[in-house]
Amino acid sequence: MNDIERRSLDRQSKNIRWFTLPPSRVKKVTASPAASTLIHASSTSLLSLSLVVISVLIAMTPVTSVSIFRPSYDVLEPSIVLKFGVILPYSTHYEFSMKKVLPAIQIAVERILQDPHLLRDIGEVVINEADSNCSQTEGPLEAIDMYLRGDAHVFFGPTCDLAVGHVALYSVSWNIPVISTGAFNQELDNKNEFRVLTRMQSTYSDVGNVFESIMDRFRWTTVGFIYDNHLCYHVTFPVFTKVVNRSNATVFQKPIYKHSTVIYESFLRDAQKQARM
Ligand SMILES: *[C@@H]1O[C@H](CO)[C@@H](O)[C@H](O)[C@H]1NC(C)=O
Ligand SMILES: *[C@@H]1O[C@H](CO)[C@@H](O)[C@H](O)[C@H]1NC(C)=O
Ligand SMILES: *[C@@H]1O[C@H](CO)[C@@H](O)[C@H](O)[C@H]1NC(C)=O
Repeated sequence: MNDIERRSLDRQSKNIRWFTLPPSRVKKVTASPAASTLIHASSTSLLSLSLVVISVLIAMTPVTSVSIFRPSYDVLEPSIVLKFGVILPYSTHYEFSMKKVLPAIQIAVERILQDPHLLRDIGEVVINEADSNCSQTEGPLEAIDMYLRGDAHVFFGPTCDLAVGHVALYSVSWNIPVISTGAFNQELDNKNEFRVLTRMQSTYSDVGNVFESIMDRFRWTTVGFIYDNHLCYHVTFPVFTKVVNRSNATVFQKPIYKHSTVIYESFLRDAQKQARM
């Protein structure tokens, strides 16, 4: 089968091609042969099912690479192949797990490629994926692998703060944009250092801004903080610095440390004497 035939077959199977890269090029090649055969079959009855099948396949087998083509894709016309590097935790323990995010990215890519007015020069989008394991070691290593293989023009993720922090720093010299739905940490606010990072949601610093607006609205000046210093440190810190920075604010604080025994009643009695809220 030559290239043109293969591409025409791809187009028939709703412009989606699943493929496995040679083992030398990737670490995790996991698309099952059964799955590939299913998608490659040109039977039209499969077409309407393809999205459903794809969702099921995603649930069953992590796939390293997926290609999505523009429906009007003409192999004889020059077109750009856009590569996504999606680096997210595979574990469904996290709200941004690969299993939840990847189908959304695929649907978005299909919609965009179906619209002849959007990204007209792009004929194919290749989505490469890797497990960040929410780890500051694994996430950046996967990004380095993708960079070396030329597998990413843009990174989606990582989302865990430490992982995305490293990737966003390296990406400055690689000149690869990083788009993350996580990266909440205040440290990542620095637009000079992290200039290729785009955060899609509000951040912990925004929590500080919101709190400051509430203080202004209700003319609060005395604030008491009782917080878990282990789990909530990063969320609390921007709020705390905002409040402390106000010339007219009086701040009382009671951190709760990991593994310490806390007598909440005495905490609250203390707080009651020193703060109104
Ligand atoms: C992912 O992280 C967990 C702990 O956070 C660890 O037990 C596991 O071995 C890691 N997996 C990989 C593939 O690195
Ligand atoms: C307290 O100071 C801030 C500026 O630091 C000001 O915006 C706010 O209105 C002041 N609040 C009151 C109750 O005076
Ligand atoms: C605290 O106030 C100083 C001076 O007004 C300002 O430069 C700094 O950015 C403020 N810090 C925070 C965390 O808002």
